[in-house]
Amino acid sequence: VTPLRPADAPQPPVRERLRADLGRYFTMARASTRWRQARLVLGTEAIWAIATYRFGQYLREEASRPLQLALRLPYGLVSRSLQYLVGIHLTPATRIGPGLYIGHHGGVWISPHAELGAHCNVNHHVTIGVAGKGRRAPKIGDRVWIGPGATVSGPVSVGDDAVIGANSLVATDVPKQALALGVPARVMGFGGSRNLVG
Ligand SMILES: CC(C)(COP(=O)(O)OP(=O)(O)OC[C@H]1O[C@@H](n2cnc3c(N)ncnc32)[C@H](O)[C@@H]1OP(=O)(O)O)[C@@H](O)C(=O)NCCC(=O)NCCS
Repeated sequence: VTPLRPADAPQPPVRERLRADLGRYFTMARASTRWRQARLVLGTEAIWAIATYRFGQYLREEASRPLQLALRLPYGLVSRSLQYLVGIHLTPATRIGPGLYIGHHGGVWISPHAELGAHCNVNHHVTIGVAGKGRRAPKIGDRVWIGPGATVSGPVSVGDDAVIGANSLVATDVPKQALALGVPARVMGFGGSRNLVG
């Protein structure tokens, strides 16, 4: 399977990651004016979750120590409350590249140990986590589309531009560009994710 970037590979600054996340939403919704973009941000629960996640990353990676200490508790309260409200579990420890797009909120659980590349699409009721009592979670490449209800678990790699079909269970490696479908997921083609990720 495609070798993925090492875990300590540098990421762009958090501001750039958030800008790329919002850019995905603005492009998908064709929100070209400031007014439309503001309405989209205010009305899209997944954006609230992603923005909170990125702010957590800012505190973790870039903020000064006093700011970290001052905001640790309020941040924990806000992020935990939002998690209950919108059903998207994302913690700042999770490495996710710029341009994350969560299609609909509800039932999304991404392990702190998981890694996702840039420009990935995650849909509602997706689980990306460890298997059983292990601590090793999936490493997912760039521009991967993960359909509603899919589960990716354990120390597996998913290559760049792969597609995981709705309700599929991925417990083994998926090559780049592959279409993985079913329970357990089997590779059914190599069409890539271009049509789904955009
Ligand atoms: C990823 C996806 C789009 C792939 O679709 P596709 O490339 O067009 O695949 P096809 O429809 O040609 O299906 C190929 C085969 O796999 C089967 N298949 C398709 N999706 C499947 C899935 N999620 N699980 C199991 N089998 C699946 C089809 O029945 C077909 O089987 P057949 O050859 O025996 O007829 C599709 O799997 C999927 O996830 N669709 C859901 C999209 C969705 O949820 N959209 C809403 C987002 S909010």
